[in-house]
Amino acid sequence: MTAQLSNLEAQLEAIRLEAQQAIATSQTLDHIEQLRVKYLGKKGPIPQVLGGMGKLDPTERPRIGALANEVKEALQSELEQRRSTLQAAQIQAQLEAETLDVTMPGIFYPQGRVHPINSTIDQALDIFMGLGYTVAEGPEMETDYYNFEALNFLADHPARDMQDTLYLPDGNLLRTHTSSVQIRYMENNDPPIRVAVPGRCYRRDTVDATHAAVFHQIEILAVDEGLTFTDLKGTVKVFLQEMFGDIPVRFRPSFFPFTEPSAEVDVQWKGRWLEVMGCGMVDPNVLKAVGYDPEVYTGFAAGFGVERLALVLHQIDDIRRLFTSDLRFLRQF
Ligand code: DAH
Repeated sequence: MTAQLSNLEAQLEAIRLEAQQAIATSQTLDHIEQLRVKYLGKKGPIPQVLGGMGKLDPTERPRIGALANEVKEALQSELEQRRSTLQAAQIQAQLEAETLDVTMPGIFYPQGRVHPINSTIDQALDIFMGLGYTVAEGPEMETDYYNFEALNFLADHPARDMQDTLYLPDGNLLRTHTSSVQIRYMENNDPPIRVAVPGRCYRRDTVDATHAAVFHQIEILAVDEGLTFTDLKGTVKVFLQEMFGDIPVRFRPSFFPFTEPSAEVDVQWKGRWLEVMGCGMVDPNVLKAVGYDPEVYTGFAAGFGVERLALVLHQIDDIRRLFTSDLRFLRQF
C-alpha cells in the first residue's frame, strides 16, 4: 500500500469520525440538516478527498472509491437514525405539553344575565323592527335646541316646566326625553321615516315607585305622506298587544308641544292605570324646523317609558328594584 493511499484512507476515516460525533450530539432537526449538507453535500469533504485519487496507482483507486461509498452510506444512515430519534422526541414533548388532565377541577365562571331593562328594550325594538322601523341613537348631553326649541317648546313656555331639567354648567343639559333624536334624525334623513330610538333620559324627579331621575325611553317616529291618527293608534295597539298580550289599554287626550293632537296611553298594572307613553301627530312646527313641508308630510310619534314597560311585563311593584342591583331580584330574570 502506498503512502498516498493510506493518507487518503486516513482522511476518509477522520471525516467519518468527526461527522459521527457531530451527528451523535446534534439536538435539532435543523442541525441534522446542516450536518447532511456539510458532510454529504457536493462541496463536502468527501469529493475533495476523492479529488486526490488522480495521484494514485490505477489499481488502488477502487479501494478508495469503495471506502468513500462506505463512509457516505454510514453517515447517511446515522443521519437518518438521529433524525428519527429527534423527531420522536419532539412528538413526545409535544404530546406531553398538550396533555389535558381531565381530572383537574374546573374554573367556575358565574353566568351573567341580561338586565330586565335591557331585555325590555330588546323586546320592544324587535317588535318595531318587525314593523319596518330602523334603530337609531342620539347623545345624552343635549342642547336646548334639540331637547326643546326645535320641538316647539317656546322660550319661557310653561311646558318646559313639565320636564324638570338637569342643566350643565356650560348651558347644555341632560336630555329629558328621547324626542330630541326626532330632530337629529330628521335633519339627516329624508322622508319616509320609520325610526325607533332607545336611550337614557334624565330629570330632576323625586324618586318614588313609578319615577326615577335616570330612566330609559324608546321613541318612535314615522313621517310619510298621508299618515293619520289611526296609523298611530294602530301602531301603538299592535305594539302593546305584542308586548303584553291582551291587557286593558286606554288613550287619554293630553298635551305635548311637539304633537297635535296628543295622547297619553295607560295600561293596567297592579289594579290601577299606569301611564306608559306619550304620543301624538307630529306638530307642523316640528316638521318645519327640519325643513320638511307639512303640506306634503304628516307624522306620528310616541315615547315609551322602558322601566314602566318592564313593571307591567314582569308585574314588578316598584321601579326602584330595577336599579338597586339586588342580585336576589335580578336573578329571577
Ligand atoms: N317626550 C315625551 C315625554 O318624555 C313623551 C312623548 C310624547 C314622546 C309625545 C313623543 C310624543 O314622541 O309624540 O314625556
